[in-house]
Amino acid sequence: MSISLDYTNMMADAIHSKFGILEEDIAGFVEQTKEIHQHIQARRDNGELPFFDLPCNLEVIDEVLNLASDIQKSFDNLVVLGIGGSALGTTAMFNALCYGHNLQDKGQRGGLPRLYVLDNVDPDGFAAHLALCDAARTCFLVISKSGTTVETTSQFLVARQWVEESVGEHYRDHFVLITDPESGVLRELADREGFRSCAIPAGVGGRFTAFTPVCLLPLACVGVDISSLLKGAADFSRFVCHGGLESNPAYLNAVLQYLAYQKGLKTSVLMPYSDRLKDLADWYRQLWAESLGKKFATDGTVIHIGPTPVSALGTTDQHSQVQLYMEGPFDKVVTFIVVDEFDQDLQFPGYKASPEMSYLTGHTMGELIRVEQQATAAALVRNHRSNCTIHIPKVTPETVGALIYMFEIQTLFAGYLFDVNPLDQPGVEEGKLFTYALMGRQGYEAKAEEYATIKAHLKPRVLTCK
Ligand code: PA5
Repeated sequence: MSISLDYTNMMADAIHSKFGILEEDIAGFVEQTKEIHQHIQARRDNGELPFFDLPCNLEVIDEVLNLASDIQKSFDNLVVLGIGGSALGTTAMFNALCYGHNLQDKGQRGGLPRLYVLDNVDPDGFAAHLALCDAARTCFLVISKSGTTVETTSQFLVARQWVEESVGEHYRDHFVLITDPESGVLRELADREGFRSCAIPAGVGGRFTAFTPVCLLPLACVGVDISSLLKGAADFSRFVCHGGLESNPAYLNAVLQYLAYQKGLKTSVLMPYSDRLKDLADWYRQLWAESLGKKFATDGTVIHIGPTPVSALGTTDQHSQVQLYMEGPFDKVVTFIVVDEFDQDLQFPGYKASPEMSYLTGHTMGELIRVEQQATAAALVRNHRSNCTIHIPKVTPETVGALIYMFEIQTLFAGYLFDVNPLDQPGVEEGKLFTYALMGRQGYEAKAEEYATIKAHLKPRVLTCK
């Protein structure tokens, strides 16, 4: 497997602008990279970064495959209830590796269940998905590291009653709870009520759970080769787990992104040219935003820092976003992901009735999408716009595993560069607490008062058109 990072078009000698990076800018990080790497290694050895070693934990495979086999035998629909890190990785890998699965009939799916990842509490969306499923043939994976997230809790309450009304006291057989190994409401419920459960390894935060049962169980249920997924990540570790900046794409990309940010390119666009990788860009958007967007530096100083990640899709967004990237403010760096070989390709036939189309004859759709990416990259260069390209040979469990692992390590390393803790998300907690207060949860009365005070100081300005 070869994955490459082509950063030619981020360099000053390519884009001829102050936003371009100089060789000496990168060289300035060589020593720091070695030091950060040593620090990361020490924390890893200390057991503080368990996500690093997940791809090598092969014990999880048997546990997940056994459970998946039971689920496959009994159910036609598998519904993930979770949000953020408990949902986005599954969606990304499901669409990358099982594209179109839910549109196939049961025979085409090899008898495997459909998979729905419900990560919102929009009653229209949730009800519409339940309406697609027969409760008696539906299994829910309730996924929450903390076990307290209100979106997941509320989904569970509705789903539990919906199943019980259909199957009666055996409703528990329709749920698997995936949560902390020891603490939290879901763990207590699993122990007390006898729900089946899987553990999210201690110390692995939501957005770093791609190689835990959080994603592995739903993916295994729909036939993804999870051994190859883990192997792809494990094999790629030799490229991304060393302190040599020039030959480590995770560290190098973190440094490049950091330098771009320092030069004023504060928006980071990830734009795969592949429908199958569209949701991988969404997964990455959360990883980058929640890990690096922080108020405090590690020493407690207020810094309000963090690149704004944006996900886009090639070629689709060439006709939506690219005008802005090309001519708008100089505040973006675009990272393309290019798939060198598609599983299928379609050749363009001739059509005598339209000679204007004949330039396409004999070419293929795979060729066209690759050419369009090259054309967009060249046009960006011409407009002095920073961009780089990650090439993967094909979309396979191995390459997707490797990409995810690379991005996770890149994000951790970037945390050191931005001088923030990439493993926490205090800004998300604040909103959760107000929600509990407004929903009348006991113990949050002070928060409810705080909310009332904020509202009382606002002068309403609302334009209503009746
Ligand atoms: O990455 C994270 O930690 C978050 O996005 C969480 O996954 C998200 O808030 C859901 O939390 P939980 O898994 O505890 O329900």
